[in-house]
Amino acid sequence: MYFVNWQREISIVEMNGKKVVVKRNKLSKNLHDYLLVISYSILSILLAHPSAPPELGSKMTLNEGFEMREKLQLLGIPTPSLISITSSMLIEDFIAGGNLHQVLSNGRNSSLAFNAGIITGRLHKSGYSFIDNKSQNYLVTSSRQVLRTDLAFIQKRDSIFAISMDIGSFLGSLLGLDCKKYEEIENAFYAGYYSEVKARIPYLSLILRNILGFGLSFSSNWIQNILQGPDKLLSYRRKFGFSVKSP
Ligand SMILES: Nc1ncnc2c1ncn2[C@@H]1O[C@H](COP(=O)(O)OP(=O)(O)O)[C@@H](O)[C@H]1O
Ligand SMILES: [Mg+2]
Repeated sequence: MYFVNWQREISIVEMNGKKVVVKRNKLSKNLHDYLLVISYSILSILLAHPSAPPELGSKMTLNEGFEMREKLQLLGIPTPSLISITSSMLIEDFIAGGNLHQVLSNGRNSSLAFNAGIITGRLHKSGYSFIDNKSQNYLVTSSRQVLRTDLAFIQKRDSIFAISMDIGSFLGSLLGLDCKKYEEIENAFYAGYYSEVKARIPYLSLILRNILGFGLSFSSNWIQNILQGPDKLLSYRRKFGFSVKSP
């Protein structure tokens, strides 16, 4: 099986009787990395939280490497086993259940979003952020464990902007789903996140969700799901005891 994705060429092959995923950088990958980084900086300035762009290049290979995966494992963030890595290619275990976006789109599995919330919260507690935290970057195993893949952009940052990028890009990637389903997912994600971080969700994450959602999942549901936003955050304050922090 083989599918093309905007950043990397992903292929699934058999190696020593085991299915593995090979990810090769495309020629256009550098350009896309720069676009992501530039958008990050421009958004941070527009939203009055100026932030230096995430690092590219060798840092991205280190982020995907054995050491980082071990560190994440210690934090309670499981990732697929890495088989080998170079600056232009990596091989990791194939995870059969598909990415979290596919799984959430295809059924009522919002408890899996709770796990994504836990993973995001654990990373933030350690002072790091994913920056590119789309639901497509989570994988679901056949025993329904949620793993994190695509680690290239992890940064040692815990600014409000970086944290909001993670929450915003996760929720933004799902804004295109049916409203009821989106609401369940958002609740589950917040509950998982709160169970780890026990701190308020920055209001900026809602703004980023809406901006990023435009690119990540444009559809008519996007409009309805955004309009529900501010009331929802107020109700989380009642439910989980955290309050809305203004930008
Ligand atoms: N280990 C894996 N097992 C199964 N599918 C995977 C695996 N890694 C990635 N994928 C699939 O490929 C997609 C893109 O992979 P990702 O690592 O996010 O690359 P990119 O840098 O292009 O975003 C994921 O959304 C997922 O659907
Ligand atoms: Mg990805």
